Amino acid sequence: MKFDSPAQTNPIDQLKIVGKPTPRIDGPLKTTGTAPYAYERHNVVPGQAYGYVLGAGIAKGRIKAMNIAHAQQAPGVIGVLNTLDFEPAPLGSQNTANLFGGAEIQHYHQAIAMVVAETFEQARAAAHMIIVEYEREHGNFDLAKLAPDAPLVKGGNGEPSVDSYGDFESAYAAAPVKLDATYTTPDETHAMMEPHATIAAWDGDKVTVWMSHQMIQWGKVALAKALGVPQENVRIDSPFIGGGFGGKLFIRADVVVAALAARKFQRPVKVTLQRPLIINNTTHRPATIQRIQLGAGKDGKLTAISHESTSGNLPGGGPEGAVNQTQLFYAGANRRTALRIAELDLPEGNAMRAPGEAPGLMALEIAMDELAEKLSMDPVELRIVNDTQVDPMNPDRPFSYRDLVGCLRRGAEAFGWDKRNPKPAANRKGRWLIGHGMAAGFRNNVLRKSGARVRLGSDGVLIVETDMTDIGTGSYTIIAQTAAETMGLPLNRVRVELGDSSYPVSAGSGGQWGAVNSTAGTYAACVKLREKVATALGLSGDDITFANGKVASGDTSFALSDAAKNGEIVAEDSIEYAEVNESHQQSTFVAHFVEVAVDAYTGETYLKRMLAACSAGRILNPISARSQVIGAMTMGAGAALSEELAVDKRFGFFVNHDLAGYEVPVHVDIPHQEVIFLDETDPWSSPMKAKGVGELGLCGVGAAIANAVYNATGVRIRDYPLTLDKYL
Ligand code: MOS
Repeated sequence: MKFDSPAQTNPIDQLKIVGKPTPRIDGPLKTTGTAPYAYERHNVVPGQAYGYVLGAGIAKGRIKAMNIAHAQQAPGVIGVLNTLDFEPAPLGSQNTANLFGGAEIQHYHQAIAMVVAETFEQARAAAHMIIVEYEREHGNFDLAKLAPDAPLVKGGNGEPSVDSYGDFESAYAAAPVKLDATYTTPDETHAMMEPHATIAAWDGDKVTVWMSHQMIQWGKVALAKALGVPQENVRIDSPFIGGGFGGKLFIRADVVVAALAARKFQRPVKVTLQRPLIINNTTHRPATIQRIQLGAGKDGKLTAISHESTSGNLPGGGPEGAVNQTQLFYAGANRRTALRIAELDLPEGNAMRAPGEAPGLMALEIAMDELAEKLSMDPVELRIVNDTQVDPMNPDRPFSYRDLVGCLRRGAEAFGWDKRNPKPAANRKGRWLIGHGMAAGFRNNVLRKSGARVRLGSDGVLIVETDMTDIGTGSYTIIAQTAAETMGLPLNRVRVELGDSSYPVSAGSGGQWGAVNSTAGTYAACVKLREKVATALGLSGDDITFANGKVASGDTSFALSDAAKNGEIVAEDSIEYAEVNESHQQSTFVAHFVEVAVDAYTGETYLKRMLAACSAGRILNPISARSQVIGAMTMGAGAALSEELAVDKRFGFFVNHDLAGYEVPVHVDIPHQEVIFLDETDPWSSPMKAKGVGELGLCGVGAAIANAVYNATGVRIRDYPLTLDKYL
């Protein structure tokens, strides 16, 4: 189905099931511990051996020699996979770091060997008996040191990519009110609950991997390439995923070494990356140094906007796109954005939790707060006067639907913003400095092709099959709601099967594009099934209705299951977008409001209240959408207050590489959270009129916390995270 305009008729607008608060259908499986995660799939194949991965002990250089003799003779050991016996695995398009093979070391904890043994403990013990001799090379690990000379990122045509519109320099020079400030965000790690894990087994020249992965099709293509086998020889199965946060968008070493070892030792092999290995072995969100210049008139209207961000990565790796939102968020006739990149020999930087916008808005939205203060203007009003309904760098291109102003007004009212004292450090209760802050947020709504297959059985049960994943987000439930709604069935007559590469290719889970596209693809398949059902029942005409398990036309009515009484009816289709992607800018919007209390003596910050008002199209399931947003707000709290990978600049690795040293918020850190969804639909988005919302909740919240801390203390910190040492 091609979706091109809101004119397309849409039976989903019955809305008996979609949009209704619906508890997650996979919830009982998860809360009873019966949803099998990758490493726990003991029954999928017999004889599973255990792999334990050894990571490199240097950040850059090469392996001169590796002695695996002791490890090979250790009790229970089946074999040792040695990087020196393999060519570097060919990279998938989204990988920068070599995942396994060869003598060259690109980063600390790169996988260099794996012991396979009868038990996990035997594999681990033997891994420590491997002796490696390295030739260490000098590496670059200090972003701040390289940043002044970091070159501009090159665009597709090889030219340095600077996006500009109007004349920033002149407008900035002429602006009556100016701000020029630099903000920094640290390296961060995904810290999802479930580690990367894979069970791999070969059957002849075909491999099946049971793994934990966000993007099944990307994984299949990349793994086939890494193993040198045709794509059709690779099957991935990933029905339950204990969090991904971007860390499982692309295959990592676990699946490559599991598949290589299973082939070499003729045994199914299961591998999990041990927690202390994950942080340096896999990917992380790169640190940024961001310079923002804003020029405004006395009325607060932005006349000049510049945002430049520098981040680092391995040679060939991309930048953190921290300026993305600045191209689209606020009106202003003169603007420029630029990205610079420094070559670092730290582990690979890649997508993590709203890549680009999350750290970009942490900077931009403090800058807006600072500008509001210079203007003596309310920060909510400043954002309202700078709203735009068109792409500011392409004014003929409207937003499909944008109600940021609604978010700001509704949020401010619900939070009680009018009671806030704008004077910093003016609200003290005993030892507590109380502060209120706000920020706005933005994240794009990405429309991607997404397919599904639906099967109607003679028992009246509808099965949906798609390689879409549920990374803890609620995909099972919203897909079931969509199918039930479109076919006029109760929810309990629909079964959803996900995460298997033998199902039709979906949009997958990433970039908050999962919900809108996977439901739209399911809708498209169901529309096709409706046609087949009508034909099977001999119904024609345009008055056919699907409701309450019945298909009716005029005076004729059948049970839906009658259509399948001579055998299952199967329909497959996908949603595709053409013009709507070009003609309209598709984005989502949020306003965040936060109350903090800062201990006047110790500088410790406590969150007291958080509120987010979101403009994100139709909300398919208010329960799971709210869970997404409060989870994202919690990530924002971590980014603002505690999350930071400490770089060892001498030896080139992240020092705090476990969950004891890398601090994410826990329950006691998170106060009352409130989420408001504006009552809206976006008819340009998809037949579902919905949008992504998963990452939106994270965008801007860090700055709202920083602005509240400033309001509490009068100390403006531009260097995340806002740890207590920075205001003492
Ligand atoms: Mo998201 S960082 O695209 O999984």
